Amino acid sequence: MLDDRILTFAPDVQRRLTQSIRQWFAPEDRILQTVRTNTVAHGLPEIQIRPEEGQMLQFLAAIIGARRILEIGTLAGYSGIWLARGLPPGGRLVTLELDPRHAQIARQHFALAGVSDRVEIVEGDAAASLERLGQAEPFDMVFIDANKEANSDYLAWSLAHVRPGGLITAHNAFREGHLHDDNPTANATRAFLEALATHAGLFSTVIPVGDGLAAALVK
Ligand SMILES: C[S@@+](CC[C@H](N)C(=O)[O-])C[C@H]1O[C@@H](n2cnc3c(N)ncnc32)[C@H](O)[C@@H]1O
Repeated sequence: MLDDRILTFAPDVQRRLTQSIRQWFAPEDRILQTVRTNTVAHGLPEIQIRPEEGQMLQFLAAIIGARRILEIGTLAGYSGIWLARGLPPGGRLVTLELDPRHAQIARQHFALAGVSDRVEIVEGDAAASLERLGQAEPFDMVFIDANKEANSDYLAWSLAHVRPGGLITAHNAFREGHLHDDNPTANATRAFLEALATHAGLFSTVIPVGDGLAAALVK
């Protein structure tokens, strides 16, 4: 019988492959390492993207020549630093954060990374922030990584505010292996992925890096 061509690796092989990719393509410098250490020291959850996901975001941004990027979900600024470092001169990252303490720590981290000049943190509930940002010029790329239950709302906003040829991306497409569980977050993530997959105005995929990076090109 033909197999189904699904490739799986033993955990130790998977680990070694990921470590090699990280080492070759996405090495963290001292600043990114410090940001991760500080995140733990401040008692914030360790839910930031992984280095290879950060590098993939930079890679995608470079492919489309992104100059204006919107991030939903700042935490301590780890993904924001990856995104900001990929911007060309004059580029801008706007990042939305609900928790003022997270925003304050992220602000320190953006200063440490020397990217404060190109990053704007917008504090408050993303729903309200997006309403205000609706008046701003379109974005080249959106990275969604906040309250997953609202992903479909963030997608609707992005469809109206990302330029043709731009990208809508989202973290945790695999939900750490729990995508098919029955709970509000997993259900919302599946609905979001189905919307990406079926929307006629999008060309979408899930890049199997880290916890799964959903990526949709706006036609
Ligand atoms: C997974 S973390 C973001 C991680 C970050 N993107 C990184 O990789 O470094 C999610 C963040 O979204 C924020 N958040 C949750 N709900 C939000 C909302 N409604 N509006 C804005 N931010 C929200 C949380 O406070 C948290 O800091």
